[in-house]
Amino acid sequence: MSEDLNIITGTKKDQYESLLPQIRGLLEGEPDLIANLANITAALKEQFGWLWVGFYLVKPAVSAASSNEKELVLAPFQGPVACTRIKKGKGVCGTSWERSQTLIVADVEKFPGHIACSSLSRSEIVVPVIYNNEVVGVLDIDSDQLDNFNETDQFYLEQIVKLISF
Ligand code: SME
Repeated sequence: MSEDLNIITGTKKDQYESLLPQIRGLLEGEPDLIANLANITAALKEQFGWLWVGFYLVKPAVSAASSNEKELVLAPFQGPVACTRIKKGKGVCGTSWERSQTLIVADVEKFPGHIACSSLSRSEIVVPVIYNNEVVGVLDIDSDQLDNFNETDQFYLEQIVKLISF
């Protein structure tokens, strides 16, 4: 089977409608989490060309080997190198985790506590990945353009993260 992605032009909705079944196909029958997260980031990056697309997963904190403290740890991504660990409640990612809700940030400079992994990032969307009613990670997308994300992105990205099995 060819693994080439069919990239299309059109509205954002058109692009997601084309991409969603392809992502479903890529994940079908593959139980490996890292492989699936890697392919989701590649597919989104290829279709939309955003600056950075990646996952952070909730894992034990390095500083707290014997406690239950958790933090977000960098997972498969596409784009420039990024910060590896983010605490709950910190930055857009840690806030999305804490609130268990998708956050759309039209201008990252106006988000208090935004963590600037890349100075080129201007807007951002973070979607929590929820399993058994708990946030187990986040999908983070950065754009080099202001105000690049809206409810269409939220709607489809929330569908995409639901395809991930743990
Ligand atoms: N900007 C994010 C940090 C992760 S990078 O954008 C890849 C934040 O504020 O949580």
